[in-house]
Amino acid sequence: MKFTPFNLEEWFDRYEHQVDYMLGSSSCAGWTLEELFELTGETIDFPSQSTTATPVPGTPELREAIATWYKNSTPDDVLVTCSSTEAIFLIANTFLEPGDSVVSMFPVYPSLYQLAADLGAEVRRWHLRHENQFEPDFDELESLVDYSTKLIILNNPQNPTGITLNDEELKQVLNIADRVGAKVFVDEVFRGITVKGNPLTPSICDIDQSSIAIGAM
Ligand SMILES: Cc1ncc(COP(=O)(O)O)c(C=O)c1O
Repeated sequence: MKFTPFNLEEWFDRYEHQVDYMLGSSSCAGWTLEELFELTGETIDFPSQSTTATPVPGTPELREAIATWYKNSTPDDVLVTCSSTEAIFLIANTFLEPGDSVVSMFPVYPSLYQLAADLGAEVRRWHLRHENQFEPDFDELESLVDYSTKLIILNNPQNPTGITLNDEELKQVLNIADRVGAKVFVDEVFRGITVKGNPLTPSICDIDQSSIAIGAM
């Protein structure tokens, strides 16, 4: 497999650490551990931590903690990876072969569709259009899927447009996926970013347990 250069990350690599004020990144400013502990009310005794290898899918405690983010999930439904990038890589490699197709929201974080293309899958773009306030067009999605479609790839909350899909909209996507036997894969790394007082964006896994969600710190 040949990897297409990841222009976005190469651009970040060139400029991100050279400037005083970084406005182009999707992440918040880095926190110190002290600030993080203040927020959680917990501390970690680092000197007493073991450096041995952990169980491959993640420690039971961590998987259990992550499962509490989802209504019906158990630790067995959770796999811990080294960043969501590794999860995206695993999902693409698990589900896709040359000749398959994927439908991906566009614009979106590039590895979500580029890895699929590099694996030989046809990428069909489900455009979020400025003139429609980036609202998704479900008729368009319907017209993009067929029996070669293995994954419908979403990002919710969406980077870079900022839109969110609610329960009803996610169910619409699931119905369309179901018609052709495709799986729904949602990048939910920005779940929890909603402004204080507003409800948490729904997770696809709370609506359909055969779908895949990825999250991040
Ligand atoms: C939507 C989205 N998914 C995944 C990633 C990759 O995140 P990670 O640093 O966890 O690999 C990013 C990074 O900006 C992102 O914006």
